[in-house]
Amino acid sequence: MSYFTIEGRRPLKGEITISGAKNSGLKLMVASLLSKEPLILHNVPNIADIHTMCNLLTTLGKTVTKGADTHSLIIEGPVTSIEAPYDIVSQMRASILVLGPLLARSGEAKVSLPGGCAIGTRPVDLHLKGLEILGAEIELENGYINAKAPRGLAGGRITLPFASVGATENLLMAACLARGTTEIINAAREPEIADLVQCLNAMGARITGEHTGNLTIEGVESLHGAEYSVMPDRIECGTYACAAAITGGDLLLKGGRLLDQEAVMIALQKMGANVSEDEQGLRVSASQNLVGIDLMTEPYPGFPTDMQAQFMALFAVAEGASMITETIFENRFMHVPELNRMGANINIQGRSAIIRGVPRLSGAPVMATDLRASFSLILAGLVAEGTTILNRVYHLDRGYEGVERKLANCGASIKRIEEAA
Ligand code: EPZ
Repeated sequence: MSYFTIEGRRPLKGEITISGAKNSGLKLMVASLLSKEPLILHNVPNIADIHTMCNLLTTLGKTVTKGADTHSLIIEGPVTSIEAPYDIVSQMRASILVLGPLLARSGEAKVSLPGGCAIGTRPVDLHLKGLEILGAEIELENGYINAKAPRGLAGGRITLPFASVGATENLLMAACLARGTTEIINAAREPEIADLVQCLNAMGARITGEHTGNLTIEGVESLHGAEYSVMPDRIECGTYACAAAITGGDLLLKGGRLLDQEAVMIALQKMGANVSEDEQGLRVSASQNLVGIDLMTEPYPGFPTDMQAQFMALFAVAEGASMITETIFENRFMHVPELNRMGANINIQGRSAIIRGVPRLSGAPVMATDLRASFSLILAGLVAEGTTILNRVYHLDRGYEGVERKLANCGASIKRIEEAA
């Protein structure tokens, strides 16, 4: 297992190129199941979750090859298996997204139930209820979802009680090949949904309403191949923006876009950071002490839960008190005890955390628990006095490409140490 050592208190200065979005790239890859013609994807991040998705698609019969450059993939060929097995789904929950496309394309699917994870129980009931409205027959047996649509799926009106990102994506992909028109009311509005809609439309789907929360999908007989470039990762961009702010640095985040993450950038500005946008991307700097604010995580366009842990690190060293209320996941404060071990003063009260800023953190051995929590510990390590040792960096490798390279190029002292197995 590898770990990072970080020597803190160095302002980050320079440029970081933002990679393609994990949470879009994964879904665009799944969309390839809807056609046997090649789907050529560009700007795909080189991260562990993408490799897991390549593995899953290969298991289902697709051929996945490298494209013209290291960030391009070509996915093609027929689906030859309808089973997403436990050993892959248990590595990555996003595997559940093959359910809708497999069902629409092959009339049946067998997908392992994902189960809970470090940030919450994360049921998939909304995915299943929506597919039933489209005519699927679903049974849960031996830890698997067995879904059938022997006569194909038929369009319907689905109202989501909560704007779930994953349920919206699963139902959207299934509806592309359903007979007639489907409406998804209270659909998620995250920018990754619009990216998926644009890719599906490039493949011949007929979808409208991607920014409105109400999607209309006119089913078509078949989809064809397409070439599409994954959007920049707004969460990676927001994370490095926090790195600039917490170290009193100045970073140009190349490819970052304000329109994908206004809530995050407004929060940084309220704390005293400077944010500007030009044709190259976003520039974030901080020349004064940050001040604490209150935040609540919400579905897009609200403040994203995937940035909550990173802001917790910022608040830990900001002047005054801050409060974060987490409304999306019920157990997403696992980084708090680790930040407190570094000298932070954070108390959890139910779904809220109260953070009283301290003048300085001190380096310590800490343990990553999930992807975003891991980065909050890196941020704390970048500003702490002394050495921080971050264990379990495989969580980071799932979703951030080249973390130590990107940070070290801007002046951070961060090293990956590979431990012999
Ligand atoms: C996506 O997860 C992202 N994952 C998450 O990013 C992100 O935190 C989340 O959306 C919210 O923005 C990917 O895109 C791969 P949801 P997803 O369905 O689709 C409940 C990261 O760090 N719910 O919107 O699973 C659920 O339990 C990851 O990159 C149900 O109750 O999110 C949760 O509390 C972590 N029933 C809430 O809704 C359902 O059927 C939000 O889930 C579905 C969801």
